[in-house]
Amino acid sequence: MLRFLTAGESHGKGLVTIIDNFPSGVKIDRDFIDEKLALRQSGYGRGARQKIETDKIEFLSGVRGSYTTGSPISFFIKNKDYENWVERMDIFKPVDEKNKIHIPRPGHADFAGSLKYNLDDIRNVLERSSARETASRVAVGAICQILLKGFGIEFASGVAGIGEVNACNYIDLFNEDILKNIKNSELRMPYPDLEARAKALIDKIKAEGDTIGGLIIAQVNNLPVGLGSFTQWDEKLDAHIAMSLMSIQAIKSVEIGLGIESGYVRGSRYQDSIYLNKNNDNYNEKNRRYFRKTDNAGGIEGGMSNGEIISVRCAMKPIPTLMKPYLDTVDLKTGEAEKAFLERSDVCAVPAASVVGEAALAFSVCYFFLKKFGGDSFEEIKRNYEGYIKS
Ligand SMILES: Cc1cc2nc3c(=O)[nH]c(=O)nc-3n(C[C@H](O)[C@H](O)[C@H](O)COP(=O)(O)O)c2cc1C
Repeated sequence: MLRFLTAGESHGKGLVTIIDNFPSGVKIDRDFIDEKLALRQSGYGRGARQKIETDKIEFLSGVRGSYTTGSPISFFIKNKDYENWVERMDIFKPVDEKNKIHIPRPGHADFAGSLKYNLDDIRNVLERSSARETASRVAVGAICQILLKGFGIEFASGVAGIGEVNACNYIDLFNEDILKNIKNSELRMPYPDLEARAKALIDKIKAEGDTIGGLIIAQVNNLPVGLGSFTQWDEKLDAHIAMSLMSIQAIKSVEIGLGIESGYVRGSRYQDSIYLNKNNDNYNEKNRRYFRKTDNAGGIEGGMSNGEIISVRCAMKPIPTLMKPYLDTVDLKTGEAEKAFLERSDVCAVPAASVVGEAALAFSVCYFFLKKFGGDSFEEIKRNYEGYIKS
């Protein structure tokens, strides 16, 4: 079973990640991973932190001569900002009373985390709950994507909306024009006019000292039919994808295909009729033999991939750290009413979240891909895959 663990604090030395049960024989393209890490750091509306960090992956184990060995893969992503925090993040030196934080910021893990773990310094919570951890997840997703690329499986992501400026239509991220627009957009948006309006909105919100969220989309194409299963609740592909995406900091909803709109339409409009693809050159392949004209189900029926594009859309809430003292809170030490403290922060991190969303989707897909075609080496998986799709 493919799994991963991450460790590390936002202003500590860096992030450590272990991926377990990844097959041998996969050629690791380090540039591809670093590009994804850079993409996570980009985007209109990000804070000053992103200018300090330029994330690069440093493998510690599980890769040799560019190929995975089958042993646990571990890697490190350095926090360049650590240089500015050496004193405050010291492992052994007692924490200076004046540096301790007692005022929880609403919308963060601060309040429940400090009560739950009995901590008198909220920094011990915020350091780990910070979205800095998403750098690890992007690298894990990129490694999964490298494996899946070997089977023609492709991923894409983008931003469907910022605040009230959003695209309501279905967006095919594999359309060449859309892909190009997203690549050239600082907000990773599919339409230039939408981006212009969204940028103006971010500028306005920034001037007000406020923050804004939005909608991210992530898709995967060329999947074989039958990843996931209808036989048990926790074997369902859509359920796993929902958990992966919902676990991203600030993500508040996960929709597959038509999503929430599914509750508003008739069955005759919603269901994706099935057609035979007789003229297809790959007619002998299980996943090319049939097709749909619509994809309202978002590529998943009965907890299994149906061969169409899997399409996921998520809402990201507005960033909880504000630049003006809007939010009421309480000093947990004195019991006095307070305003939430202001810290350097993003105004809008939706483009970054879309990159993390793509990585989360890649992990879930890879998990089920290895479950179905599992083997200890790339070659073994390839044999299993070909045996299945040609049968
Ligand atoms: C890519 C990304 C960047 C984020 N940047 C910030 C930030 O700069 N400031 C902030 O207060 N929250 C930021 N967040 C959101 C918080 O991490 C998140 O709201 C918080 O950890 C609480 O988790 P929850 O919203 O899932 O309950 C970011 C989230 C993501 C995904």
